[in-house]
Amino acid sequence: MTDFIHRFEPATSAGSPPLLLLHGTGGDENDLLGLGKMISPGSALLSPRGRVLEHGMPRFFRRLAEGVFDEDDVRLRALELGDFVSDARKQYGIAAPVAVGFSNGANIAAALLLLRPDVLAGAALLRAMVPLSDPPKAELGGKPVLLLSGQADPIVPASNSARLAALLSQAAASVTHKVLPVGHQLSQADVTLARGWIGNVVAEAA
Ligand code: MLT
Repeated sequence: MTDFIHRFEPATSAGSPPLLLLHGTGGDENDLLGLGKMISPGSALLSPRGRVLEHGMPRFFRRLAEGVFDEDDVRLRALELGDFVSDARKQYGIAAPVAVGFSNGANIAAALLLLRPDVLAGAALLRAMVPLSDPPKAELGGKPVLLLSGQADPIVPASNSARLAALLSQAAASVTHKVLPVGHQLSQADVTLARGWIGNVVAEAA
């Protein structure tokens, strides 16, 4: 199996989609397990640790500065993560997961949607940015994407998250974009909105 340190927790209720949990810079495979359980109780949880280290802090791809990405590395790492998910699906017998990514994890999830549209069933992107300046033309066939941005986010300008929402909509994702009165950190509103959104995804798939 493609080599990512990870945690896997099997589903405890049929009908809840598996989640691919993608942490932010300096996080690890344990970080988002609690969030995953809150927003989709009963889902299988697949939670890898980013393989890039920035001053010892795990990330999912290299960056040149805050908000300035090494895009060759973004492409490479997104494909690597896609291979990991495919292998993990076979090993653990799970369906295509819905990604739940925060910050750097949301950015790699956005890259995965654009570069390997088959890998994810959908994505909740918390404080995401446009991951590639020249993305390929992707076809997301109505996949649900929730984008939650912070109005006072010092890392992600409002214009950038609006551009990501437009990019994903042009790729035929079914995008819900909400701007919350918060900064880069997660808030209770993120949990509530993500939980409601996953509930709709499940209802629509049924
Ligand atoms: C990134 O590098 O992906 C973004 O700047 C978000 C972060 O991890 O701080």
